Amino acid sequence: MIILAIETSCDDTCISILKFKVQSSKLKATTQNLKLKEIKILSNIVSSQVEIHKKYGGVYPTMAKREHQKNLLPVLKKAFKKAGIKNFIKPKIDFIAATKGPGLEPCLWTGVNFTKALAHLWNLKIIPVNHIEAHILANWLSPVSSNFQFSIFNFQKYLPAICLVVSGGHTQLILMRDFGKYKILGETRDDAAGECFDKTARILGLGYPGGPAIAAEAAKIKNLKLKIKNFSLPRPMIYSKDYDFSFSGLKTAVLYDFKKQNSKTRKSKKYVQAMSVEIQQAVIDVLIKKTIKAAKDYKVKTIILGGGVVANEELRKQFGEKIKKELSNIQYLTPNIQFCTDNAAMIALTAYFHNKEAKDWKNIKVNANLRTN
Ligand code: KG4
Ligand code: ZN
Repeated sequence: MIILAIETSCDDTCISILKFKVQSSKLKATTQNLKLKEIKILSNIVSSQVEIHKKYGGVYPTMAKREHQKNLLPVLKKAFKKAGIKNFIKPKIDFIAATKGPGLEPCLWTGVNFTKALAHLWNLKIIPVNHIEAHILANWLSPVSSNFQFSIFNFQKYLPAICLVVSGGHTQLILMRDFGKYKILGETRDDAAGECFDKTARILGLGYPGGPAIAAEAAKIKNLKLKIKNFSLPRPMIYSKDYDFSFSGLKTAVLYDFKKQNSKTRKSKKYVQAMSVEIQQAVIDVLIKKTIKAAKDYKVKTIILGGGVVANEELRKQFGEKIKKELSNIQYLTPNIQFCTDNAAMIALTAYFHNKEAKDWKNIKVNANLRTN
């Protein structure tokens, strides 16, 4: 089965083509995933709009929409070329998938409408995909060579699991009882963790996206224990009994401290780097504490991370260390770095598992506020 997937929920225009080989064995496989023999990523194109949004320190939805409109066709052509598909009129594709939400509504509609046009042209059904579920399943895309190899997986081995999805738009703790069975335990009440990185980086005069910029500044200080004298940022809601998060207070604390400093200090490397360490650590502390609590409360087999913020090396490392210390018999999954941030390979993979839900193009709608259910 070959699936072409389109992802335009935020500021990356992504198209990927995945080939799924199914076991031909006569043995009856009990679950869909057991039948899967090989996943090959034929192409995975990501066209970033970072340069455009950089000036504003965040994503402008209407501008992002316009860029998606410009980029979709060239990205499709690139994806076809990389996959070695030459026939544009009737390509060898079985399904076309698109992110239906959550995300920025104008951006989602651009991708979905493009998908509908292609589905109509190629006479294919569309598999609508939830972006958050795709960030979770991205853990099963593991390239081991330049040709992108597959990993066979059996979900049962990992379930139930606590999934932490942390991106620019979301911070959610999700209980995954079975494949396709998700329950949101908690989420951010204001800013998402990635948004907090983006906004605080902007205050400090660092680049966009803020997450990698703050991580790079923090990494310049070798000893992460070093702090600004007598200063530490709040860890909002770290001891609250629920599984919710709040990051806007952290951003405000950074702003207040920044305003207190004179212009020389504000620009000094020492201040920016020490502040970056502290911001990163405050976010990591809260995410780890809440996730470990949920894993213990629900006695799960696995902790699964996903989303752009998981590209943060310090977060991955500290999560690993903490799990080893506190929950040594629990499995810990993080996606390959390239599949943490938005990509369409994760959309195609998720679509494979939902291929029974493929619909006619006329019945596909965007759901920007869609929650994982
Ligand atoms: O998943 P994603 O690509 O898009 C959304 O679905 O939002 O996540 C983007 C977010 C941005 O806020 C960005 O600052 C953050 O992920 N991010 C990082 C890192 N790389 C990207 N945050 C912390 N450390 C990183 N290395
Ligand atoms: Zn995302």
